[in-house]
Amino acid sequence: MALETLERARQEFLAALAEAGSDPARVETVRVRFAGRRSGLLRDLEDALKLLPREEKPSYGKALNELKKFIEERLAAAHRAAADASKRGEVADVTLPGRRPALGAYHPVTLVRREIEEIFLRMGYSVADGPEAEDDWHNFEALNFPPDHPARDTQDTFFLKGGMLLRTHTSPVQIRTMETTPPPIRVIIPGRVYRCDSDLRHTPMFHQVEGLVVDEGITFGHLKATLEAFVHVLFDPEMGVRFRPSFFPFTEPSAEVDITCVFCRGKGCAVCTGSGWMEILGAGMVDPRVFRFCNVDPARYTGFAFGCGLDRVAMLKYGIPDLRMQFSGDERLLRQFEGIRR
Ligand code: PHE
Repeated sequence: MALETLERARQEFLAALAEAGSDPARVETVRVRFAGRRSGLLRDLEDALKLLPREEKPSYGKALNELKKFIEERLAAAHRAAADASKRGEVADVTLPGRRPALGAYHPVTLVRREIEEIFLRMGYSVADGPEAEDDWHNFEALNFPPDHPARDTQDTFFLKGGMLLRTHTSPVQIRTMETTPPPIRVIIPGRVYRCDSDLRHTPMFHQVEGLVVDEGITFGHLKATLEAFVHVLFDPEMGVRFRPSFFPFTEPSAEVDITCVFCRGKGCAVCTGSGWMEILGAGMVDPRVFRFCNVDPARYTGFAFGCGLDRVAMLKYGIPDLRMQFSGDERLLRQFEGIRR
């Protein structure tokens, strides 16, 4: 009777092992079930030995030892086979195509910033930057916005605790440059700026690029030729450029600069409200008061400055219809710039 139990155990073991195949986890489950130290079947069969009548003990003990050895050998072989099988799966398939790393794309604003930097670097400018959290002096006072002057109302300023503010334009870096660098100065200053304004054409954060030239004998003619050259390289050499009188506290005279509408080529359309022109720049000759604030001698030096919205240029160059699309992080927009490098 007892010997039959052992034989049944052997058959059960073989069936379970065959079913487990070369799956290492399933072979392990079979091991625990039959040879596990705490509750394996062999352990139960050993316990049964103690309860047998004395005359049956020797033959049962001998058969049990053989069964143990048999099970251990088979398990070891199955474990080895399972390990071999999983190793075979790891062998590299050299015929598979390679995996392309996801490279991402440059943001349209980055593309136009780099393009504009390159144009001015070729004209001998250097690139400067400054802090986005500014003080009142650099963002307003030294740019000739007196305290409580209504010109400040146009700037929709975010004020920070402790008297600081988020710069509303890149012009404060004009002041920082003149405070630290004696003329001649030729810099462009790209960067983020902030205004408390949000609709189809405005976002609370946007980008500008500022230009500043200070030297002896700089005239409005230099300003005009520089901006015309800039527009002709950035867009195309046929592009019309026009200067309209305007006002900024820190330039005198001041101008707003328009280019031929890129959508209708000057014929007049809905985007340019029928005029054939679109505004892209503010500019002017540096006001002598600003020079005095920065300890630059206005009797000796003159200069010009201009400011341009980078996001606006990106929209015009790449035909992006809504300013806000540039900052929503939508991959469908960004993927279109894959592969474009500057
Ligand atoms: N800072 C002005 C603005 O943000 C633009 C400007 C820059 C105008 C430099 C003239 C000269 O509106």
